[in-house]
Amino acid sequence: MNLALFVSGTGSNARVIIDRFRAHPEDGVKVVLLVSNKADAGALLMAAERDVPTLVLDRTTFFETEDLLAQLARVDVNFIALAGFLWLIPPYLVRAFPNRILNIHPALLPKYGGKGMYGTNVHRAVKAAGDLESGITIHYVNERYDEGNTVFQAAVRLDADDTPEEIAARVLRLEHGNYWRVLRGLAD
Ligand code: GRF
Repeated sequence: MNLALFVSGTGSNARVIIDRFRAHPEDGVKVVLLVSNKADAGALLMAAERDVPTLVLDRTTFFETEDLLAQLARVDVNFIALAGFLWLIPPYLVRAFPNRILNIHPALLPKYGGKGMYGTNVHRAVKAAGDLESGITIHYVNERYDEGNTVFQAAVRLDADDTPEEIAARVLRLEHGNYWRVLRGLAD
């Protein structure tokens, strides 16, 4: 599997995935590109330090042309994993990678999904609802936010006095432990 990682921020999931597959070539996953929609995303530096090629998206080009397809083809990308990527994936990209784009969401979908449900917003909503469980959902990407078929879910128990930041940390640990495993499974 030749994987492109799409990010918008820190890229801690991207880092774990890059480091895992670099250390374990037998897993059959090669990260060939890291794509960011933000020029100042920390993930870009992280990837550059690891000699992973990077690409910064321009909004108009991304949404109004299909130029990205040629750039992905140039490095033989055949699978995409979104890891904290905040733009909606346009129809041409979904069509070009049918069941080949995965996303990770920091909650147990269909709860706490959809537009605007990202980052701490999710964990604040979980806290406000008084849930004593949250988790992660890894799912295929279609043209709507957080609605593609689920591939994997894992739950984590919460304490009633957990802050949204503590919930975030628990959930992120779960992401780091599982995203690469799911990708490895799909590469088989
Ligand atoms: C993760 O919580 C992921 O589920 C969500 O965005 C966050 C990205 O974190 N979609 P990081 O950039 O990988 O640290």
